[in-house]
Amino acid sequence: MPLVLVGSIAGGQPNYMANAHVGIMDFTSISVSVGKNYQTNAGIKDTRTLSINIPSVDLVEKADYCGLTSGKRTNKAALFTTFYGTLPTAPMIVECPVTMECSVRETVDFPNHSVFIGEIVNTYYDDHVLTDGVLDLAKVQPILFHLNDKGYWKIGERFATAWNVGQSLKQSEAEKIRGWETEKIRS
Ligand SMILES: Cc1cc2nc3c(=O)[nH]c(=O)nc-3n(C[C@H](O)[C@H](O)[C@H](O)COP(=O)(O)O)c2cc1C
Repeated sequence: MPLVLVGSIAGGQPNYMANAHVGIMDFTSISVSVGKNYQTNAGIKDTRTLSINIPSVDLVEKADYCGLTSGKRTNKAALFTTFYGTLPTAPMIVECPVTMECSVRETVDFPNHSVFIGEIVNTYYDDHVLTDGVLDLAKVQPILFHLNDKGYWKIGERFATAWNVGQSLKQSEAEKIRGWETEKIRS
């Protein structure tokens, strides 16, 4: 999973936590699962807003630190430059090349986690991570987290085009089916 930093305001202060249980719900909504004991959980419940910040590999040390310490005891926001978009309680990180400010639409309750469904209000990105106006993952260099080996991984290369690489197989399979149907009719 990509590792993100979830931003919130808790106890009046900006705070960032490391989070890998983040998902895409539809084109404008995300989900993020946050442990109930964490400062981030209290902050999001209080303000009903959050931010998703995508760090590049060069921020790995700070990102990991945000998963090792709690905003209850440390000022993790001091590691970064914070900025705000339109939501005054969704702090975002200048050093992250892609960030989103979100308002909470719904909260799904699990025994130890709250899954916040967030509506993306705005997305911000650095121009230097674009190629021909499109977000370029090779430039974003997101951190990928593997739960089982506890490793941080980098992305590899773009190697195929979606909704395209399977087209010739789709065609040859359709021809096969047409062939069987013709044989069935003849017999
Ligand atoms: C790589 C990594 C991934 C993590 N993913 C999650 C996650 O998806 N959900 C969660 O609740 N905590 C996750 N954590 C743990 C929190 O980041 C950690 O408990 C943090 O101290 C909570 O900070 P807070 O109390 O300031 O909110 C992760 C930690 C690391 C290092």
